[in-house]
Amino acid sequence: MNKQTPAAVITIDGPTASGKGTIASRVAQHLGWDVLDSGALYRLTALNALRAGLHAEDVEGVAKVARELDVAFPDGRILLEGDDVSAAIRQENVGNLASRIASYPQVREALLQRQRDFLRPPGLVADGRDMGTVIFPDAPLKIFLVAAVEARAERRYKQLREKGFSVKMTDLLEDILARDARDSNRASAPLVAAPDAITIDSSHLNIDQTVQAVLDLWSKTGGAK
Ligand code: CDP
Repeated sequence: MNKQTPAAVITIDGPTASGKGTIASRVAQHLGWDVLDSGALYRLTALNALRAGLHAEDVEGVAKVARELDVAFPDGRILLEGDDVSAAIRQENVGNLASRIASYPQVREALLQRQRDFLRPPGLVADGRDMGTVIFPDAPLKIFLVAAVEARAERRYKQLREKGFSVKMTDLLEDILARDARDSNRASAPLVAAPDAITIDSSHLNIDQTVQAVLDLWSKTGGAK
């Protein structure tokens, strides 16, 4: 696995809209590290499967799309076959399909090494559902970031409105609850805190406070390399 590498890794797992992405990128920025938005890989797979006209139930077809993804992440943008899809992958229909196809072991397997390849010195902050349990089980600091469902729905609402998507709060709440259930109940890499993860509840914390909580925990681990 990653035992020999000198690069450090902090994993941040948690349910949908718990703020993992924002926290991960701020922590990475602070430490001068790279960030892995693993959910983007599932969203990119979903988007390309939609573009190819595949059915969600076509497990082999979707796994092939995952294996052959032609993606690049230049300066914070997300390119799929050269096309900037940074906004397109955030749509709720893409997120919902991502959550469905993420339950296929074949899709998870297809994306596994691609995720580990993000780890380079000096370090990586990895955001997802199974970063601490499956992808980087040796990480010296594992965070499980949670927040009340109402707080998460409000954050997602603001995020989608800022991107110009029109959304209804009631639909969002329903989506979030459905996604929680799917992520937690699937057989393959379900959303669960690693036994050695530290849970942070950000329902009543702002972004700066949450980032600080993670950085404090990192200092307490001795800023382990
Ligand atoms: O934005 P949100 O937290 O809803 O999702 P995301 O992190 O962008 O990930 C999209 C979907 O991919 C999630 O609903 C998960 O089901 C799935 N996912 C996963 O299974 N494993 C990961 N490491 C990351 C995402």
